[in-house]
Amino acid sequence: MNRMAAAALLIAAALLMGLARPASAQDDKPMDRQAAVGVVRDVTETERTEALRRRFVADVSHELRTPVAAIRAAAEALAPEEESLPEDLKRLVEIVLRQSADMEDLVSDLMDLSQLESGAVTLQMGRVALETLVEDVVQSLAPAARNRAVTVAVSVPKGLVAHGDRRRLAQVLRNLVDNAIKFSPQGGRVDVLAEPANGERALVHVVDRGIGIPRSEQANVFQRFYRVDASRAKTVPGTGLGLAIVKHLLILHGGEIEVDSELGRGSRFTVDLPAAPAFALKEEAS
Ligand SMILES: Nc1ncnc2c1ncn2[C@@H]1O[C@H](COP(=O)(O)OP(=O)(O)O)[C@@H](O)[C@H]1O
Ligand SMILES: [Mg+2]
Repeated sequence: MNRMAAAALLIAAALLMGLARPASAQDDKPMDRQAAVGVVRDVTETERTEALRRRFVADVSHELRTPVAAIRAAAEALAPEEESLPEDLKRLVEIVLRQSADMEDLVSDLMDLSQLESGAVTLQMGRVALETLVEDVVQSLAPAARNRAVTVAVSVPKGLVAHGDRRRLAQVLRNLVDNAIKFSPQGGRVDVLAEPANGERALVHVVDRGIGIPRSEQANVFQRFYRVDASRAKTVPGTGLGLAIVKHLLILHGGEIEVDSELGRGSRFTVDLPAAPAFALKEEAS
């Protein structure tokens, strides 16, 4: 064995002993050593269960994708015939259409989240001009906004460029603007604002004047499946996975998200992203 390997072994052994060493001499009893070993085993057990859970969710969502798409396609094929169908059948077709669309969203969110949790997502990093990114996202949500007569106002400085994966950042903003629209009152207004911070960061705020989130629940909304107040969740479509996906994507970007909200008055979600280097900012502006 060469000297390096011997040193590495010694360090590893010292670390292991350090882990198992009791907190004080007084605790130095055989029972405590067992307890320490027990803790180590518990952690690996938790990790194994967690890995199993992730694998299971990934497999199930993958398996569900094809049949759910087929059910939806079949219901869509029936839709043009709807007028000629008896009333009760018409209602059934509508239910199948709506529920299969919701299920497709759920399966797709589940797949996204399980891939993010297992570390299988790699970002295609590049320069992302925020002005066009926000415009594209708002454009893609125009039908949802029109449905609720919500005005979405955009104010993004020209030349503000983030460092990130364009498709993934669009997914982040889409989730936030979609939430802002659906939790706004009919005829409400949503603002998407961006600004540079410290020359190195870009902030994007999505602001609504909708139902808001109680302070005590604000930290929870980023957990998977968490939806504030089951009764209001029933009337607003969603999976409760959007903000969990957003949070994961931002961590991958070296970014952050914060929420500031008041019940009944509205919410402000702020995304903090790395900005592209300053020379890129100038280039973009000219
Ligand atoms: N702009 C918002 N205004 C009020 N509540 C919100 C807003 N955004 C998110 N929430 C709350 O956080 C929950 C989780 O959001 P999300 O993960 O996007 O799930 P979903 O949109 O599928 O319900 C929502 O169900 C809602 O209760
Ligand atoms: Mg959502």
